[in-house]
Amino acid sequence: MIINLVLAAFLVLVQPLVGAHGGLANYTVGDVWYRGYDPNEPAAEQQGQSWMVQRIWASIDPIFHVNDTGLACNTPGTTANSYIPIAAGDNLTAVYWYWLHPVGPMSIWLADCSPFGKCEHADPNKLEFFKIAEEGLLNGTVTEGMWFQKAFQHWDGTPDLWPVRIPETIKPGLYVVRHEILSLHIENKPQFYPECAHLNISGTGSAVPPKDYRVKFPGAYQDDDPSINIDIYTDEMRETTNYTIPGPPVWDGLMNKYCADC
Ligand SMILES: *[C@@H]1O[C@H](CO)[C@@H](O)[C@H](O)[C@H]1NC(C)=O
Ligand SMILES: *[C@@H]1O[C@H](CO)[C@@H](O)[C@H](O)[C@H]1NC(C)=O
Ligand SMILES: *[C@@H]1O[C@H](CO)[C@@H](O)[C@H](O)[C@H]1NC(C)=O
Ligand SMILES: *[C@@H]1O[C@H](CO)[C@@H](O)[C@H](O)[C@H]1NC(C)=O
Ligand SMILES: *[C@@H]1O[C@H](CO)[C@@H](O)[C@H](O)[C@H]1NC(C)=O
Ligand SMILES: *[C@@H]1O[C@H](CO)[C@@H](O)[C@H](O)[C@H]1NC(C)=O
Repeated sequence: MIINLVLAAFLVLVQPLVGAHGGLANYTVGDVWYRGYDPNEPAAEQQGQSWMVQRIWASIDPIFHVNDTGLACNTPGTTANSYIPIAAGDNLTAVYWYWLHPVGPMSIWLADCSPFGKCEHADPNKLEFFKIAEEGLLNGTVTEGMWFQKAFQHWDGTPDLWPVRIPETIKPGLYVVRHEILSLHIENKPQFYPECAHLNISGTGSAVPPKDYRVKFPGAYQDDDPSINIDIYTDEMRETTNYTIPGPPVWDGLMNKYCADC
């Protein structure tokens, strides 16, 4: 409880910073930067612009329920007109400004836009997402241990970087990339922070993830999942040194290489 209160006080103190910026602001591939949507800037200057690669997220506020349609690509999740070009096997780096929550898993997902023709036409709630990376509890206990969510931050106001390698074997084409942070610092009140962008993946691969790896949002998570509806401050969690990241397993890009829909 003491830790809980200290944490709560800390979060209140840092609130002005969160107000300044919070969430996934930019993407980089090598030395090239791609600007994302900024909820603190006028929507009219960003929405519908030809350069925009990120789907619209109107506020930095979290999503609280697994049944929220915004869980797919935030709210309203309005489409973007542009794409980040990237070669399969290269790294996409997400740039967060002033991320300040320390506890909970983080995951990165892709969804193939080809059933919709292009990502501009994709309904985020109908996309089939598969996980390409996840990070959780690195060491120590659920309550006091080191989570990747804390470790990836610099805690000095400089941008926090989160790279992911696009599977080398993946079938090239147009994809939505979805970054999710799940913050669990408030007991039994999970906070989801998803953001989506459009990728144009080039390459010579043909791999497609099997059906078991593909999910829709909402639908992928259940609100009674003990990894989601969790009180991290119980005596049990003070002793627990493992945390099961919710959702399907990470697709390694190697399975069912010759099978398009199984
Ligand atoms: C990064 O994103 C912020 C917020 O959207 C924006 O103000 C800034 O121009 C972007 N930086 C680059 C280099 O794209
Ligand atoms: C979503 O779940 C919450 C919490 O269980 C519930 O209060 C709400 O009515 C649900 N909303 C919809 C649209 O099902
Ligand atoms: C826990 O992980 C952090 C970040 O990787 C590292 O700095 C720290 O040394 C680790 N602690 C232990 C006890 O292994
Ligand atoms: C590429 O991303 C992976 C994580 O998927 C990371 O381990 C690696 O360090 C990154 N490489 C570079 C050059 O950033
Ligand atoms: C995707 O990139 C390919 C080149 O790799 C290009 O021919 C195609 O026009 C791009 N598609 C879109 C929608 O940007
Ligand atoms: C730790 O692992 C056990 C056994 O797999 C599992 O039942 C439990 O839910 C895990 N704990 C957490 C906090 O994920």
